[in-house]
Amino acid sequence: MTSFSLAGKVAVITGGSRGIGRAIAIGMAEAGANVVLAARKAADLAEAAERVKETGREALTVETNVRDGAALENLVRQTVERFGRLDILVNNAATNPVFGPIAGIDERAFDTVMNTNVKSMLMLSKLAREQMKQQGTGGSIINVSSTGGLRPGRGLGMYSVSKAAVIMLTRVCAGEWGSDGIRVNCIAPGLIKTEFSRALWDNEERLAATTSTMPAGRIGLSEDLAGAAVYLASDAASFVTAQTIVVDGGQTGA
Ligand SMILES: NC(=O)c1ccc[n+]([C@@H]2O[C@H](COP(=O)([O-])OP(=O)(O)OC[C@H]3O[C@@H](n4cnc5c(N)ncnc54)[C@H](OP(=O)(O)O)[C@@H]3O)[C@@H](O)[C@H]2O)c1
Repeated sequence: MTSFSLAGKVAVITGGSRGIGRAIAIGMAEAGANVVLAARKAADLAEAAERVKETGREALTVETNVRDGAALENLVRQTVERFGRLDILVNNAATNPVFGPIAGIDERAFDTVMNTNVKSMLMLSKLAREQMKQQGTGGSIINVSSTGGLRPGRGLGMYSVSKAAVIMLTRVCAGEWGSDGIRVNCIAPGLIKTEFSRALWDNEERLAATTSTMPAGRIGLSEDLAGAAVYLASDAASFVTAQTIVVDGGQTGA
């Protein structure tokens, strides 16, 4: 199945230092890509880069706050300086600083969530597109949404709004950039065991109630997302664009 290979490709992964982004970075490296890991904390980036290098591929780390436009420009610039190209972008970094009813969301919280989870994805995608167009070889952009973007998460309303926007952003970019040879797809994870979601799984009773409704009978691990991301990035998915793949153990489907 050589069409699943990412050999010779360069992938930028935001939030690549921990959790789902780290697992996607390792999966893409195992499939043959050199990877660029972008996040804020240097120590986590260094640890993830070491793990990527164990696959035999190269890893570049770039300290990046995705809310900072200049940092996004620096990320693409450093990627091209080091590897000469950019073929795959995984927009994965996101935040959820607020729990509770949407009536309690103030303007500052709204801006933080939307700037981190949506605006940054568009701004970085635009920069990646420019580079991909210059290369003339197309590319693949993968946005990480959430099943919360398909149906409202209780107490996670603002986050759900942002993740629904990610799904539509994916479809709009896919429609407009298909003629550039750029495919844009989305992954919507269900509950995955990472620091981000700790409040949803570290209470045993609550976890048992959640998993009892899930066909897979368990919550997800970060590694469960790697296969879908590698597939969407690869030539095996060359006729797949504007789609959202749900990876949630069947929770929203069944
Ligand atoms: N875990 C779940 O159950 C779940 C479910 C559905 C969707 N998701 C989505 O999956 C994605 C990854 O989540 P995760 O669970 O893997 O979270 P995580 O383990 O907390 O990792 C988040 C990653 O994003 C980085 N990050 C956060 N804010 C950033 C910023 N402003 N600029 C740059 N990097 C930033 C973090 O590094 P630094 O803190 O060092 O910057 C870290 O590398 C998110 O889009 C999330 O919404 C998660």
